[in-house]
Amino acid sequence: MGASEPAPFRLVIVSNRGPYHLTEVNGEMKYEKTIGGLATAILPVLENSGGVWISGGNPGGRHPNAPGRPPFDLHLIELTDEQVRGFYHGLSNSALWPLCHYFLGRVNYDWSEWQTYEQVNRRFAQVALEDAHANDVIWVHDYHLARAPYYIRAERPNARLAFFWHIPFPAPEIFRTLPWRRKFLASLLACNLVGFHIPEYVKNFKEVAVELLGAEVKGDLVYCNGHATQVAALPIGIDDAAIDRQARQPRVERRMERLRESLRGQTLILGVERMDYTKGILERLRGMEHLLKTKPEIHGKVTLIQIVTPSREGVAAYREKKREIDEIVGRINGRFSNDLWTPIHYLYRAFTPSRLVVYYRAADIALVTPLRDGLNLIAKEYVAARIHQDGVLILSEFAGVTCQLPEALSVNPYDIEDMAAVIEQALVMPKEEQRRRIQAMQARIKAENVTWWMNAFLDKMANL
Ligand code: G6P
Repeated sequence: MGASEPAPFRLVIVSNRGPYHLTEVNGEMKYEKTIGGLATAILPVLENSGGVWISGGNPGGRHPNAPGRPPFDLHLIELTDEQVRGFYHGLSNSALWPLCHYFLGRVNYDWSEWQTYEQVNRRFAQVALEDAHANDVIWVHDYHLARAPYYIRAERPNARLAFFWHIPFPAPEIFRTLPWRRKFLASLLACNLVGFHIPEYVKNFKEVAVELLGAEVKGDLVYCNGHATQVAALPIGIDDAAIDRQARQPRVERRMERLRESLRGQTLILGVERMDYTKGILERLRGMEHLLKTKPEIHGKVTLIQIVTPSREGVAAYREKKREIDEIVGRINGRFSNDLWTPIHYLYRAFTPSRLVVYYRAADIALVTPLRDGLNLIAKEYVAARIHQDGVLILSEFAGVTCQLPEALSVNPYDIEDMAAVIEQALVMPKEEQRRRIQAMQARIKAENVTWWMNAFLDKMANL
């Protein structure tokens, strides 16, 4: 990765999921790195310049003697089971998550969960205030902690305060249903800088700020109650060089070849996601089913490997979705498999990044077809891993990343006929066209990589 600039100020990062977690190994607590886009972006800066990362974690506090400790100050906030239920499974993932992904029918607004959300946000804010010196930049992340800026600003009017919203910011018509909509907006507008992935989310945010709080917009500044907030569209990037390096490792090459041999010349289609109803896994499987029904000539010639990482199993909607997916996979394989061929290989477990790269290298086609997605880094990772500049990316028109990757084949994931037709188009795309599209996408992924993203934020923060 190109080096991030050293930060000319100390950063205090506040997020629900941290870059490290504590696990118990043989009765001893040990730190382990968490895999994730945000950690990839921010860790190099904290490792170089120091700083604090405040996140949820069990046990809470600081554990200076635990092995594997990060080279900066990590402060874990432990929550009770009841707080986790109300704040994480409840308001965050049963109200804000479906709301922001346009699943109004799944939204559950619950007043006691809202109170727990407030309580937990205030707690994170208090810890940030204790850990942050006067000139530090406090950078809060994502929908779990949208109310923390309000509590920070109330205590410290001069705080240098930034926020990044990692999921879609929905259209005003959707956002307006949130009972605590003005409180959310006022909190985000208590920041000096608020980042979103793409211009559409910035536009939605500005519109509700004007409509609900009477804010005034001038360019990228939103004025409310005499305070200015800068808003920016900056899609998070990946460490393209690290993926390219991994993809070229002999071990990856060997595993990729073994996987390809097991497919005996079939075309490999790949899907990778967390188990989540926003990801369109079911719709994609229906598209495959439609294709297999209508095009018997592809039987035995195409395999879909669908990797699904378990996620948020404490929320009923997630458990339900898993049952539905298990069922449809069984139905499709039951109907179409023969002695030599199973159309869908369904892997329900977590994979390390280096194992995922084997699948990226092996797959002729990647299906990234969320019903709604803030950005989507799997699409970028697949493209970055295509070291021979071949392969086809099929991308939902509802993923934020489409505006960075217009060369992907676009699909409406709700339309099974469209899905089947686009997969067919991918199956016959000439190599030269694959190369042209992949090269254009690789160039953009490189230009707007994780270092670019981080430096863009550091530059903006320097002027707060
Ligand atoms: C999304 C959110 C992140 C979150 C991740 C995984 O990408 O924007 O904040 O960490 O999903 O979800 P989880 O509930 O496991 O943290």
